[in-house]
Amino acid sequence: MCGIVGYIGRRDVAPLLLEGLQRLEYRGYDSAGVVITGKTGDLRVVKAKGRVRELQARVPKRFAGTTGIAHTRWATHGKPSDLNAHPHLDNDEKVAVVHNGIIDNASELRARLVAEGAELVSETDTEVLAHLIARSAAETLEQKVRDALRSVEGTYGLAVLHRDFPDRIVVARNGSPVVLGIGEKEMFVASDVAALVAHTRQVVTLEDGEMATLKADDFRTYTTEGSRTSATPTTVEWEAESYDMGGHDTYMHKEICEQAEAVDRVLRGRIDDRFATVRLDGLNLDAREARGVRRIKILGCGTSYHAGQIGAQLIEELARIPSDAEPASEFRYRNAVVDPDTLYLAVSQSGETYDVLAAVQELKRKGARVLGVVNVVGSAIARESDGGMYVHAGPEVCVVSTKCFTNTVVAFALLALHLGRVRDLSVADGRRIIAGLRKLPEQIEQVLKTEPDIKRLATHFADARSMLFVGRVRGYPVAREAALKLKEVSYVHAEAYPASELKHGPLALVEPAMPTVAIVPDDDLLEKNRAAMEEIKARSGRILAVAHQEQEKADHTIVVPKNEDELDPILMGIPLQLFAYHTALALGRDIDKPRNLAKSVTVE
Ligand code: M6R
Repeated sequence: MCGIVGYIGRRDVAPLLLEGLQRLEYRGYDSAGVVITGKTGDLRVVKAKGRVRELQARVPKRFAGTTGIAHTRWATHGKPSDLNAHPHLDNDEKVAVVHNGIIDNASELRARLVAEGAELVSETDTEVLAHLIARSAAETLEQKVRDALRSVEGTYGLAVLHRDFPDRIVVARNGSPVVLGIGEKEMFVASDVAALVAHTRQVVTLEDGEMATLKADDFRTYTTEGSRTSATPTTVEWEAESYDMGGHDTYMHKEICEQAEAVDRVLRGRIDDRFATVRLDGLNLDAREARGVRRIKILGCGTSYHAGQIGAQLIEELARIPSDAEPASEFRYRNAVVDPDTLYLAVSQSGETYDVLAAVQELKRKGARVLGVVNVVGSAIARESDGGMYVHAGPEVCVVSTKCFTNTVVAFALLALHLGRVRDLSVADGRRIIAGLRKLPEQIEQVLKTEPDIKRLATHFADARSMLFVGRVRGYPVAREAALKLKEVSYVHAEAYPASELKHGPLALVEPAMPTVAIVPDDDLLEKNRAAMEEIKARSGRILAVAHQEQEKADHTIVVPKNEDELDPILMGIPLQLFAYHTALALGRDIDKPRNLAKSVTVE
């Protein structure tokens, strides 16, 4: 999605802004732009369709200044083009705005501005903001921005420069993240800490309905109504290097390879051997309340939804609480019955996914208790929730989620164990699951060592135009996630089905040109899974099995280490992340920036 970077201080601003934009490239975008306050006080703008390097090539040699804002745009209103790229200016070039989010009443506002004589040159919703701010008769920039926002319906994270107020950047947030970076005699603003953590780890995250004024040696925050708010900077957990590629060719590869240490982190400090349980203080749910939960509903999108499906199974198995997962994007539109005895869990890597956030807000409005299962500390979903747990995967930069999926599933295993142990899970079973969890980091390392074989298999299957992924019960969400990984990074069509449903339709697809990936854990359903493979073989289908032992019916088997039955899905997903990665590599795809996708979907 779109990205914002801004700086005010004493340093040459253009290189800082371009570097910040590069750090936001992972979010997905189609054009970029920058505006600085030049030596004479004029606003100087450069924009380019395409990548930040194309913008960089257009920046003139003499482009000096110490204040500026910049943007990467992901088209919503109007195609990707130089003209539609941000920043947007008013006709007198007094005001420059960069904006993330969507102005819902942009058409009405455009019509009104045109009737008043404004000339709008782009197809974007954002341009109206520049005109509205420029037309305000208020005395201060803060009041002008406030005036403009009063006419606006929609979501925004925005930053504004004004020729008549060269000593400041004014920013505002409603539904789209804005983070201030507090430096020594310099201030930063960004839509994501990744853009500023190389310069300062002291940050202030704005709340919805908050604005801020940044000057070189000072900042203040206030509501859109103008009352001051308190803003104590917090320290970002991660060093700048955590956002670098660390010697890997892609972030996806780096993040797949980091999973053993990431899992170690989600477990660290949480296991309570004495009572064969885990401590999850952030849930804000005491034992009595935990016992009173009648149902659990897990909401997330994409990979987080798939992690939630495995989570629901773990909770049912270990805590015997009826649980299910649903895409938040569907849930929020179907006027679901909100039950006071149901505990709602909102799952998100970024903590900013709009559909999940909107579902949380709707649930809260109806009095439900919502816990967050989130990776990014202090993100909107974490803050909106009544409590929750961080999954501690570390910064995930690649659009394609890998390590966060694994860590989220492990976090669900901890939650299931915790809920199980305040209900009917025995001490012996608690110990068994804890032992299984402790084995995971080493077992992940073992899986990662099989990468050369997986690469060979991925190259072998890379000519397939379509692939079928099947699994049963615990294996089914693994199959769904693996199919999503393959399609989003390699663009190979992939379809996931419960193996039990093969006879009810998908068997018709099976032929040599449509290979099947079968998830075949050594559990009570092993024979059923073998029978499904038999059916596929009988129709001349090619099979790649992910299993705990070589599978006779499969053409190829990726063998993964066995853990406790309940925890098997965690390890079985990892080789298929590598499979998707190597397929994409064999097909020459842009692995970290798959086409049409963005890392955080902060708009509807
Ligand atoms: O940040 P979130 O976990 O809320 O993001 C949800 C989905 O947009 C995300 O998982 C998406 O499906 C990824 N591209 C999957 O790799």
